[in-house]
Amino acid sequence: MSIKLEVKEATKFYTTKSGNLHALDQFSVGIDPGDFVSIVGPSGCGKSTLLWSIAGLHDLTSGEIRLDGKKIDGPNDQIGMVFQEANMLPWRSLIKNIEFPFEIKKKAPNTARINELLKRVGLSGFETKYPRELSGGMQQRASIVRALSFDPSVLLMDEPFGALDAFTRDEMNLLVQEIWLETKKTIIFITHNIAEAVLLSSKVFVMSARPGRLANVYEIDYARPRSIEMLSDPKIIQTINQIRSNIIEQTT
Ligand SMILES: Nc1ncnc2c1ncn2[C@@H]1O[C@H](COP(=O)(O)OP(=O)(O)OP(=O)(O)O)[C@@H](O)[C@H]1O
Ligand SMILES: [Mg+2]
Repeated sequence: MSIKLEVKEATKFYTTKSGNLHALDQFSVGIDPGDFVSIVGPSGCGKSTLLWSIAGLHDLTSGEIRLDGKKIDGPNDQIGMVFQEANMLPWRSLIKNIEFPFEIKKKAPNTARINELLKRVGLSGFETKYPRELSGGMQQRASIVRALSFDPSVLLMDEPFGALDAFTRDEMNLLVQEIWLETKKTIIFITHNIAEAVLLSSKVFVMSARPGRLANVYEIDYARPRSIEMLSDPKIIQTINQIRSNIIEQTT
């Protein structure tokens, strides 16, 4: 099986007023097509920097990232991204927010696909509502629809549910699992919530403190679909605790 996404010695220095800031250091990883992987690590270790580089939203200082063997050198319809905040424009309705990237790219929105996705995430009938009329969970569902509307093969998620209450987060995790099982997109998921990472992923990558390097990989080979109840399994709790200790070790 060929590698879907290959990150090779990704290194990033930001130029700041007080000098160079070393955010990412020789980070290498290969991700298989259709895999679901999570990245966890201390705050500020370079997780978002890595994800933005994969999305082609900024350049690496050295190293490279390849999607299906082709070097990424800018934003690409093959890669969709969901951020912690839903990033909806308050003066546009839900459907107009979802269609916004099409407008920017001067493309006709893929209405049939968008409608199908809205139905899939339970938002049919809310198309004309404004963000203030939608709950946080609904807005995040809409941003998942927006990210999937171009039918990317890779979905990047940067702490997508960090701002949601625990119950809504559980619901969203199960929804993401369902969508992943149905579509087999390759998903890279950043979170501070280790239980969430273990619930969803086949591999959890732990990053070192900044400058971020790959510190450890945990394989999570439980059958799917997985349930929230699974998180009470003593073996899973042990895995979660191991990963948590490993992250703490990175900062000491
Ligand atoms: N545009 C930028 N210019 C300068 N420094 C930046 C920039 N973006 C991020 N940094 C710095 O790079 C380091 C890594 O940031 P990054 O946002 O990638 O970390 P993170 O792991 O996503 O953190 P968190 O878990 O808090 O979201 C931090 O020290 C941050 O201050
Ligand atoms: Mg971040």
